[in-house]
Amino acid sequence: MRRSLVVGNWKMNGTLASAKSLAEAIVSGIENTNADIAVCPPFVYLRDIDQILQGSHLKFGSQNVADQESGAYTGEISASMLKDINCTYAIVGHSERRSYYGDTNESVAERFSQALSQGIIPILCVGETLEQREQEKTFQVVDAQLDAVINLAGIASFEKAVIAYEPVWAIGTGKTASDEQAQEVHQYIRQQIAKRDQSIADKIQILYGGSVKPDNAKGLFAMADIDGGLIGGASLDAESFLKIYNSI
Ligand code: PGA
Repeated sequence: MRRSLVVGNWKMNGTLASAKSLAEAIVSGIENTNADIAVCPPFVYLRDIDQILQGSHLKFGSQNVADQESGAYTGEISASMLKDINCTYAIVGHSERRSYYGDTNESVAERFSQALSQGIIPILCVGETLEQREQEKTFQVVDAQLDAVINLAGIASFEKAVIAYEPVWAIGTGKTASDEQAQEVHQYIRQQIAKRDQSIADKIQILYGGSVKPDNAKGLFAMADIDGGLIGGASLDAESFLKIYNSI
């Protein structure tokens, strides 16, 4: 039986004060520990959030990590820096990074490896655009995104990783994939992993992301291959985020 996981991606939102009060409200509202739960605040707030989470069930992650180990990479944050501050997860390859900041399948694979090299659990985001879905290229796109990581890091690296399927057309648009549409791709991803290693495929958490809200979370999370969610907009409100977590 896989444990479920719900992760809040706060993106570039909030202030130090609002980030702290959001984290406090989530910590105090967690009623059960049957599933894992984490938040990914902006980098500059991570240490303050860590203080609030100490001793609680809530973990934290970063929204990105550098594709290099250290050196002259102005503006980047390395995996070892994140490890220094007790970061548990690092999102890599979010579609906003891929489309606005030029992250390629190859650089995402490097980021994934950097996170793992420091014992940080990468949350690898994959997913197709609307155009790609309409051209029936969903599986092809997801394959290329997965293959780049498998080729660089090896299938065994997925032992300590999370995958998030996030159809780009569903992110921040209010258009969620139907339970069946999401399940179809989650099942496909698990099969792709299983072709290489059945036991990793059975264990790996595959999250769904894209307009998950309290009213659609239950249906999505009930699907056989959906092990939780990566939540954007709804994670900025403690009550909505906790409702989503509690629908596991
Ligand atoms: P959304 O974002 O829930 O606001 O659609 C999800 C994500 O980008 O991870």
